[in-house]
Amino acid sequence: MEGMAPKESSGAKNALTRQPVGNPLVASTNIFMHTKNETPADALARLIQENQFVGWVYQLDYEQALVLTNDAWKERARGVPQNCFLLAAPAGPVQAAGEIVLLRVIGATPLPIDDKVALAKIENCKQRSPKPAENQAGTATPDEFRYGGLRCRVLGAFYLREGKLRLGSDLESYASTAQLEVFRPTGAALEMIVNYISPERAAAAEEEARRLGLKGDLPRFSIGTVRYASTDRRHRGDAAEPATFHLNAVDFLARRTAVFGMTRTGKSNTVKQLVSVVMRTGMERGLKIGQIIYDLNGEYANANLQDKGSIAEVYPDDTIRYRMMPTPGFELILNNFFRQISEGHNTLRGLLEASKLPRSADLEAFLSMDFIEPRKEECNSDHEFNRQSAQYQLKLAAYQAMLARAGYELPEGFRITFEVNPGIRNKVNPSVDPAHGLTATQAYEWFYLVRQIQDELITTKGASWIEPDTNVLINLLLQKNDQGGYIPGFRLLQPFKDYHAPNRSTDVCDEIYNHLVAGKIVILDLSVGDPVQRERLGKRIARHILRNSMAAFNAGQHPSHTVIYVEEAHNIIGRHEPLTEIWPTIAKEGAKARIATVYATQEVSSIHPNILSNTENILVSHLNNENEINELAKYYDFRDFSTSLIRAQDVGFARVKTLSNPFVIPVQIDKFDPEREKQRVRLGKPK
Ligand SMILES: Nc1ncnc2c1ncn2[C@@H]1O[C@H](COP(=O)(O)OP(=O)(O)O)[C@@H](O)[C@H]1O
Ligand SMILES: [Mg+2]
Repeated sequence: MEGMAPKESSGAKNALTRQPVGNPLVASTNIFMHTKNETPADALARLIQENQFVGWVYQLDYEQALVLTNDAWKERARGVPQNCFLLAAPAGPVQAAGEIVLLRVIGATPLPIDDKVALAKIENCKQRSPKPAENQAGTATPDEFRYGGLRCRVLGAFYLREGKLRLGSDLESYASTAQLEVFRPTGAALEMIVNYISPERAAAAEEEARRLGLKGDLPRFSIGTVRYASTDRRHRGDAAEPATFHLNAVDFLARRTAVFGMTRTGKSNTVKQLVSVVMRTGMERGLKIGQIIYDLNGEYANANLQDKGSIAEVYPDDTIRYRMMPTPGFELILNNFFRQISEGHNTLRGLLEASKLPRSADLEAFLSMDFIEPRKEECNSDHEFNRQSAQYQLKLAAYQAMLARAGYELPEGFRITFEVNPGIRNKVNPSVDPAHGLTATQAYEWFYLVRQIQDELITTKGASWIEPDTNVLINLLLQKNDQGGYIPGFRLLQPFKDYHAPNRSTDVCDEIYNHLVAGKIVILDLSVGDPVQRERLGKRIARHILRNSMAAFNAGQHPSHTVIYVEEAHNIIGRHEPLTEIWPTIAKEGAKARIATVYATQEVSSIHPNILSNTENILVSHLNNENEINELAKYYDFRDFSTSLIRAQDVGFARVKTLSNPFVIPVQIDKFDPEREKQRVRLGKPK
């Protein structure tokens, strides 16, 4: 063993030729910028921390490196946890070599002489007596017992090009004779690794930022610190230098992000962190980023007991909460069917179609009709426009009368109001003028009489003055088809009464979209209400956001930034959705419309494959079974973390792959701290 490796002090041998690392505890927002007197090559040298020497690469190829290490070196570097990053550089000034290899520890590897050493170790143990430790204080450990091998994956190489630090994701070549010194980076050096962003991406991001009118550094969100293992006494202990991990706004905005992990491993916490950093970035930079949360458990809207402090409580002025049930402090998600006619009719159509009832001719006609007001520009004459308007008013009145008959509550003070010409008015009931407004019962009676007159007209003249759609609506209202036979009519609508909000005056989708454009946080509390209804509503709102933002994009404008968070996404974004459905469409097209999606679920396998393969950022905490791990292991280098993901159940311990980073980074996500956020809001809020 002697002579095979240098003495322990040799790690510091080149200390004079390398730059010491700056104070790593100083916040490093600009770690890729060189200080005035520093040359770019120094940036490369700054990656190497002499005191973190852990061994030598004794074998290298494109895929893996084998590292000889020693207990004493490991001890001094505060351990070498599995999955930790290592850097390998040739002995001597790194500036001259021009390249540093980035490694990830995958496991241990036996050294060629391990069998002999193991025999000697066993002999050594046999000679010890099983007595208390103090009696053995003098027992010496032979030097060769202290060596071991590490198996590492080659993640890439840092090098310089045109004065900029670059990270290639492979090795271009390697020297078989190379003896590379290996270091375990911490603090600022580790931050450089995990926050690396390629010059191309940085340039693209800067251009995007300029378009948005952003000044200064590119926005990036600090979301946690590097963590390798569940046991973190040493690598994250008091003496250790933490390395902050940032999510680049350009990786996040207009992109897809998945948050996976078993229940209570910190998914919602991650979402809250994201919501608040986006909010903060928006406030600091004067950028409006609308955020909407599909909150299936009601944990963002209400201060929940375990966490004291919800998003709604932290940002009271910028949060609007919606529910499907009237609740103080919440807006109703639903529409008023008497005022938002098309929206209401669309909702009913969807519900009826989904309910798969047998379809009578009248029901079929009801499903295929629409409620589009006649427009003057589209009519040949004023006379024609007036005729069409009168017909439309009558149709609307018949529809409203039918809703009322089915038990849909009229808005306060609302009357069913329409104009009819005096001839018809006198014929139907001279004592009632619908232009003054009718109650539900009056409207029913009026149409009842209309139907009688019409039946007479048809028998005597074979014609009717009522248009087909209106006729269908009257049939449904009176539960009678054209032949006079019974039909269930309005009764078919009774089960859907709860979708109607009698007190609302604007379309809820428009209202929500306007909030988003204004940079607000919209929380859809879907914890109450019928699951079918919540899925439909969820989709309708998502569709509205996409449609409006796409319209802006197609008109050559920049749509405003939106982030959509979907909690318990397996309930909303099903694996078996057709690709034309709204969620896969948003995943595919959302980027153009500047829509970012963040979805959280414990089931990797439940997510539509098309969404998952289009997802740029993935954050995963503990998963409890091989199926889910295997699903995930198809992506990037998550396979390296299979064991650790199943084994470590620590809350907030995530493995993170972002768009900018070519490999997965293990991160402990910061805990969302409502009090600190409130403080920030108080201090940072623009006047
Ligand atoms: N990064 C973290 N650090 C510390 N505690 C956390 C962290 N993330 C979550 N927690 C706590 O763990 C609990 C469960 O977290 P939660 O985010 O609700 O999990 P999930 O959404 O995965 O079910 C909560 O009480 C939360 O405050
Ligand atoms: Mg949750």
